[in-house]
Amino acid sequence: MKKYLVVIALISLFASCSVGKEEQERQIEEVKTGWKFTKGEVENGEAVNFDDSKWETVRVPHDWAIYGPFDSKNDAQSKKVVADGEKKRKLRLGRTAGLPYMGIGWYRKSFEVVENNADKKLNVEFDGAMSHAKVYLNGNFVGEWPYGYTSFSFDISKFSKVGENVLAVRLENKPQSSRWYPGAGLYRNVRLVYTNKAHVKHWGTNITTPQVSEKMAEVKIKTTVVGSDKCTLLTEIYDSNKLLVATKESESISGDEKELEQSLQVKNPQFWSIETPVIYTVLSKVIREGKILDVYKSSFGVRSFKFTSNDGLHLNGKRLQVQGVCMHHDLGPLGSAVNISALHRQLVILKGMGCNAIRTSHNSPTPELLSLCDTMGFLVMDEAFDEWKKGKNKNGYTHLWDDWAEKDLMALIHRDRNHPSVFMWSVGNEILEQFTDDGWKRAKFLVDIAHREDSSRPVTIGMNREAPALNNFAAQFDLKGWNYHTHLYPWLKETHPDWSFIASETQSTVSSRGYFDLDDVPRKHYVRENLQCSDYALDYCNWSNTPDVGFAMLDDNPFVAGEFVWTGFDYLGEPSPYNLQWPTKNSYFGIVDLCGFPKSVYYLYKARWSKENVLHILPHWNWDQTKVKTVPVHVFTNFNSAELFVNGKSYGVRTKNPKEVYERYRLVWDDVKYEPGEVKVVAFDENGKTAMESSIKTASEPYALQLVSKYAKIKADGESLSFVEVNVVDKDGNFCPTANLSIKFSVEGAGTFHAAGNGNSTDITPFQSNVRNCFNGKCLVMLQSSEKAGTISLTATSDKLKSANFEVTTH
Ligand code: GAL
Repeated sequence: MKKYLVVIALISLFASCSVGKEEQERQIEEVKTGWKFTKGEVENGEAVNFDDSKWETVRVPHDWAIYGPFDSKNDAQSKKVVADGEKKRKLRLGRTAGLPYMGIGWYRKSFEVVENNADKKLNVEFDGAMSHAKVYLNGNFVGEWPYGYTSFSFDISKFSKVGENVLAVRLENKPQSSRWYPGAGLYRNVRLVYTNKAHVKHWGTNITTPQVSEKMAEVKIKTTVVGSDKCTLLTEIYDSNKLLVATKESESISGDEKELEQSLQVKNPQFWSIETPVIYTVLSKVIREGKILDVYKSSFGVRSFKFTSNDGLHLNGKRLQVQGVCMHHDLGPLGSAVNISALHRQLVILKGMGCNAIRTSHNSPTPELLSLCDTMGFLVMDEAFDEWKKGKNKNGYTHLWDDWAEKDLMALIHRDRNHPSVFMWSVGNEILEQFTDDGWKRAKFLVDIAHREDSSRPVTIGMNREAPALNNFAAQFDLKGWNYHTHLYPWLKETHPDWSFIASETQSTVSSRGYFDLDDVPRKHYVRENLQCSDYALDYCNWSNTPDVGFAMLDDNPFVAGEFVWTGFDYLGEPSPYNLQWPTKNSYFGIVDLCGFPKSVYYLYKARWSKENVLHILPHWNWDQTKVKTVPVHVFTNFNSAELFVNGKSYGVRTKNPKEVYERYRLVWDDVKYEPGEVKVVAFDENGKTAMESSIKTASEPYALQLVSKYAKIKADGESLSFVEVNVVDKDGNFCPTANLSIKFSVEGAGTFHAAGNGNSTDITPFQSNVRNCFNGKCLVMLQSSEKAGTISLTATSDKLKSANFEVTTH
């Protein structure tokens, strides 16, 4: 046995845990190109001989609705939002972004099954299809899955044949089915998977680490093998250097479906944490008479954690404050079509402010997001539903609850249970059952399913108000999540000292990047004629609050494990507080705007969450001197005190004051005389010594365009994106913070102009237009590589401004 181990270790060293040639028994084909698509109902759209030559050719992931046009009539919803305390119905515009996501869409894809695969099992996997998917192969109905966020797969072996096959998918989105933009179509990845008859079932491994210490991690792996006949299961664990660290082979097994439990030990394990997200890989090999029939790859992390009632979350024995954000699934100008570069960029931006956790509000995320969270070190609250049987939307989940709730939750857990980033299952958000006498029964139903499928994580939910603590609802959950209502924490603790809490949703502060209302004080002018919210981070809705108030509640109630701020990024739809006006197409809640540009509030969070020094001055310093006499200056910093200078004149030192909420987390100089020039802040350390300086300058007239990007090299895979930031600058290169000019883009070479945006909710120019206004000095262009390596050249021009060029290398 020892010799065998050495041999395997050597093989794995050279073959580096990628599956060796003779082991390529499972073939996974991503089905991205060559899809035909049409909008609207089609008779016999599933038929093999149907002529789809006039349909559009698209690449999947594909979102049919993101091309617009934006229109207030699209999905206008007459609604009374109980959660917002509304008493009457109101006509909400732009709730789903004013994009045409409703209706029927058909996709067809022809693919070849080669002779060698004649005897294989063939499965088609969808990471999600929006929505009410009905799947057909060669004219035969294969199966359906209505909830658009759930990943599902079908065995299509009995309908497939050697030669050409036609896969057809009919989707249908009902109007008034969502509270935000859900997207439309095959918006996530699709795969064909060929296996031998004996193979590991889809999502067939369940890996937990029940005992971990510095010396040893016990890794328990339950593996479901199907179609085995005198097979063995060989399980191998590889460390992050691709070295084999543990292995176990089962006794001989036979049967249609067998679950095997194996326990393996990893010596001196490397722990998964936020700072060191170490991933182990498991290869599960089904073997008969020395021949490998299947190799199934999974991954996991070694970590231990617990939520406590008095001291929040402990990860690997140390307290960790959850510094999280809620995220909807759209990717701004890309809509809901999944793109790894865009997901990765979002996480990089969030990590940059010290964010360490994501809540996948309010539905099953795309699997790529979880893999990125695994490797980049984020905790995830993996959420299943926004509504149960008591509906929030006329055509929402209420219609699916009876038949699908258990299946949808099981699919989420089976798919996601091995991800080390996933820390808790959330079975809902502000579910209306929380206010009813017997709502706890539905809560129990879901909690029992989650416990049955995975006992290694707590089950939580986002609740609100007092009711769920008084009826039996909150009592069902392992971890009590409360949305907003932070004033309830002292009472909750007093009445339920044994409960563990997390602030599942906080703040909902509203702001527009770079727009400052100089008359801004908390909530005074939170609605304005220009349909913008001020970037001082003081505007909020009637159910929400400023970050300062939220921070104070958490700091004063440290038993709460931390928070998930609503939201990390702006998202399409729900443009509160302007949800009755048009045009407003996206939210104002984001810490970061729709295009990934940080708003001022980003630095307030960064000052609190990150270990880096932060000294950020707001607002900008480009005012009309004939109209503006004084300007409130705020500084977001993690230093305790700082001195402000305008053109060298001191406005005095401000020191944080824990007794006043608006002096506790920000430094404020209320009436600073406006004169063009330079604003400088000097921050002091605990000994009163200068620790850091920061300044902003008045820019002169817009003079040139400037293109900046961290994405100057991308993969030539037809999918990767380069994100190019467009700035308007003056002749000295100073950023012009009030420029709102029209800019035109042209692209040549090894890629295409994919989309552009500026973060302005009131701008309803289609994202695919190559002419766009910048918003407060900035906009963003997304270039997509082709599959041929080369150079993509972007040129930006604007009347009277010096144009700019940027080149991206694709490889
Ligand atoms: C919450 C809700 C979120 C979003 C948010 C806006 O109550 O859970 O989905 O609607 O309000 O502030």
